[in-house]
Amino acid sequence: MIKYLGSKRTLVPLLNRIIAQSGATTASDLFTGTTRVARGFKQAGAFVTAVDTASYAHVFAKTFIELDASTLPVAELTDAIARLNVLPGKHGYFTETYCVTSRYFQPANGERVDAIRDLIESDYRDTWLYEPLIASLLLATDKVDSTTGMQMAYLKTWSKRSHNELKLLVPDLLNGTGLALQADALEAVKQLPEVNLAYLDPPYNQHRYFANYHIWETLVRWDEPSTYGIANKRLDVRTRDHRSAFNSKPAMPVALRELVANVRAETLVLSYNNESWLSREELLDICSVNGHVEIIDVDFKRYVGSQIGVYNKAGERVGEPGAKRNTEHVVIAGEKSMVQRLMQALPQD
Ligand SMILES: C[S@@+](CC[C@H](N)C(=O)[O-])C[C@H]1O[C@@H](n2cnc3c(N)ncnc32)[C@H](O)[C@@H]1O
Repeated sequence: MIKYLGSKRTLVPLLNRIIAQSGATTASDLFTGTTRVARGFKQAGAFVTAVDTASYAHVFAKTFIELDASTLPVAELTDAIARLNVLPGKHGYFTETYCVTSRYFQPANGERVDAIRDLIESDYRDTWLYEPLIASLLLATDKVDSTTGMQMAYLKTWSKRSHNELKLLVPDLLNGTGLALQADALEAVKQLPEVNLAYLDPPYNQHRYFANYHIWETLVRWDEPSTYGIANKRLDVRTRDHRSAFNSKPAMPVALRELVANVRAETLVLSYNNESWLSREELLDICSVNGHVEIIDVDFKRYVGSQIGVYNKAGERVGEPGAKRNTEHVVIAGEKSMVQRLMQALPQD
């Protein structure tokens, strides 16, 4: 998985216990990001619908959630990856923008990204391999970046991993089926059929994913956008089109209330961070429309970027790390006996 702000790596074991105990055969993950939670649900045997607005999240969802490994000629993917891994590099938009006029990746790796991504577009666009190949390229590129995990800035001196050679691996496709939707969760819930379990993991502050992961957007869209500033962000980062109601302090509580009210699910599971704009009481109140509500507080280590320190646009350290621990709230709402059954399945300490 890519390094991702708000990724639920540490919550996955708990969420996996919840889905297993619920016996859900249908589930949705409405802010799927890296898809790591949706993957757990799929592995538990549920048909999962994975929704996100981001293009790279959609590529991951198409790859890991929609594709059914048991029905695919996976050897074709292995062969295509072997072909891409020996392709000579060429200097193109990616190299110039993210390796020369900014320094997110070493030029030798940038040239390989240019060559590989061009070939994926020319030779695989209309095949089932298209998304898994882009997913593989995204995962490989993330492993050789020179950032603290977000693309607001790059490091002043090259990271150690940036010196490694870009290497595509065969993505770990899962058996089973699912659905990937690139959509605003607020709109998607109006169309989606009822599920046994819906998981909501909305952004919890003003930091927009479209701005934080602008290079992944470009790597997927392959649209060579004009950029601005030292960080070389896409010009459309500045427009209103890519704003999420969940990144606005006044809009977020209203949006979450609307979303929770419109989600059609027997059981709702929502994770939310203690550094967010909502208090525990507001969260409980919003979720109570779904029936009985219980809340679990999970303490876990903060995202690594915030431990390293605060950086300015040139990648210079300008602030000390904040508190190293934060709390994630996991809210479970639904029919009382089900909510209590799920609570009993969780470790109590
Ligand atoms: C906290 S992250 C989710 C992380 C994910 N659970 C994981 O473990 O990788 C929030 C996600 O919400 C997406 N997002 C933001 N606004 C959205 C909206 N209105 N509808 C759907 N997705 C949205 C972002 O692109 C981001 O991937």
